Amino acid sequence: MGSIHTIFLDPARKEVEAQDGENFFFALISAGIPIRGECGGKGICGRCRVRFVEGAPPPTETEKRFLSPPELDAGWRLACQHVVERDVSLWIPFSGEALGRKTAGLLYSVSFSPKATLVHVELSLQKRGKEGSAIESLKDVSGENIEVSLPLLQKLPRALREEAGKITLVRVGKNVVTLRPGHRAIPVLGLAVDLGTSTLAAHLLDLRKGTELGAKAIANPQLPFGADVLSRITYVREGGEEALKRLRKALVEGVNQLATELSLEARGTPDEIIHIVVVGNPTMLHLFLGVDPSSIGEVPFVPIWREALSLLAKELNLKVHPRAVVEVPPLISGYVGADTVASILACRLHEKGFPCLLLDLGTNGEIVLGRKERLLTCSAAAGPAFEGGRISCGMPALNGAISHVHLEKGDLNFEVIGGVKPLGICGSGLVDLLALLLEEELVDATGRFSPRPDHPLFSRVIGYGNNAKFLVTEGIYLTQRDIRELQLAKAAIRAGIELLLDKAGVNPQEIQCVYLAGAFGSQIWPQALAKIGLIPNELLPKVQLVGNAAASGAIAMLLNQELIQEATLVAKKAEHVELSCEKKFVEVFVANMKFA
Ligand code: FES
Repeated sequence: MGSIHTIFLDPARKEVEAQDGENFFFALISAGIPIRGECGGKGICGRCRVRFVEGAPPPTETEKRFLSPPELDAGWRLACQHVVERDVSLWIPFSGEALGRKTAGLLYSVSFSPKATLVHVELSLQKRGKEGSAIESLKDVSGENIEVSLPLLQKLPRALREEAGKITLVRVGKNVVTLRPGHRAIPVLGLAVDLGTSTLAAHLLDLRKGTELGAKAIANPQLPFGADVLSRITYVREGGEEALKRLRKALVEGVNQLATELSLEARGTPDEIIHIVVVGNPTMLHLFLGVDPSSIGEVPFVPIWREALSLLAKELNLKVHPRAVVEVPPLISGYVGADTVASILACRLHEKGFPCLLLDLGTNGEIVLGRKERLLTCSAAAGPAFEGGRISCGMPALNGAISHVHLEKGDLNFEVIGGVKPLGICGSGLVDLLALLLEEELVDATGRFSPRPDHPLFSRVIGYGNNAKFLVTEGIYLTQRDIRELQLAKAAIRAGIELLLDKAGVNPQEIQCVYLAGAFGSQIWPQALAKIGLIPNELLPKVQLVGNAAASGAIAMLLNQELIQEATLVAKKAEHVELSCEKKFVEVFVANMKFA
């Protein structure tokens, strides 16, 4: 085994240990450092920028393509292009605490009837007599639907011996997660998890009281392996078992981090978490379970399973109670998953007496047009632009992200999540900025920067043609290429909306409510969305921001067990429209490329 070196990280002020000869990119990822990167260390994306505080290694040819001579002189390099050979100090812009803020809560009141319960029982072996057993007595007093497991059998004798048959059972449905002698007040915690392509969010609940104890979000640790689901599927296809293991490990560790931090902050321990509902798009869920998602990436884009799953935490390497029950609600199709089902439940779209739209503007743009009678769903290949992916200075909606941009006294002003030094710009900030540039005619309807030397903001436009960029603040800018990415994303979503309306024979005027969901959706100013043409103008007064509706749905399922069954009915009712198979798609998509 080679020697170990230390990597000192600024501005995070952390130390990471790495093997001699280990690639910087993978050493940082293994240590849980949220470094940027979208190509999995292949030297294709140019995103894994780090600055060697001193003694930078000679630049490679790849680096010379992505970094300017002044940047190279300043010590900027691509982490995936070098190996660790000594102790070094690195400056990594994105390595600070990536904690987001809570963006979900219940959208409707839910009656409190959780599947996870604490029950006090008193067993008497005498009652059954010699024909009976302790398990049969337990079933007598707690209901027949108890699953007999080895840990239950092993724990029962002690529980019977002590405290004269008084036992405390903690159950999730028929599953006895744990039992203790005596009648005790054991904490019963639940975790609602949303596995977003860019962000992982979790909410910790007290399932005895039905209250929320805390919520957190972190950047998805898989981000360095690809900004969107297709690139992660490709990563697995090319890298096989090893790549699948690596992606799964990243996701499981992310969830474990959230579970541990949330439970410790609530003065509990992760093993008090006994019920988990995990939602996410189909690719994220496949990767979370260690199931190869390749079939989703090729025609006919089918997932390995669609039905609801109920698993044990220990099968998934989750560091909660090993017998905690992990529920994965059903999927609708290869690209519309349990997160959309949960969002429909959260907004009660399947009960509406009038047509409503649900737009989940995450890395995948899922769209649902629904009412009581019919639910039409599609996934628009919007790419990760609205979550800051493939944007020069883009980042998820986490601390340090510029979330809003506006004009103030003729100059640009902006808001930063967490009120800290800006590290990048997230989807809502990007949409604001683009809307402002369109409004001020600094960008024309085709998406090109237009020369307006008379405008006070024009001095912020640097360079010409395809190299032009708009400076927001020091080191943070919007390039011509970024505008193209946003243009593609906007056109894909708008085309999806128009095709679903067409398919259902519904006019935009008939839509009664537009639910805007996703971490992006909780920050966005709907006026900016209408300005860039993502939603038709007539829908603007009907927009309702619902934050992370997928997480809201997962919370609701923890609080009311009937909703877990209802999720299956919703998934069965939903009809999936595969946009790429729609004849009109290309035509409608191209027509929506313009900002006019
Ligand atoms: S270039 Fe290093 S991760 Fe893409």
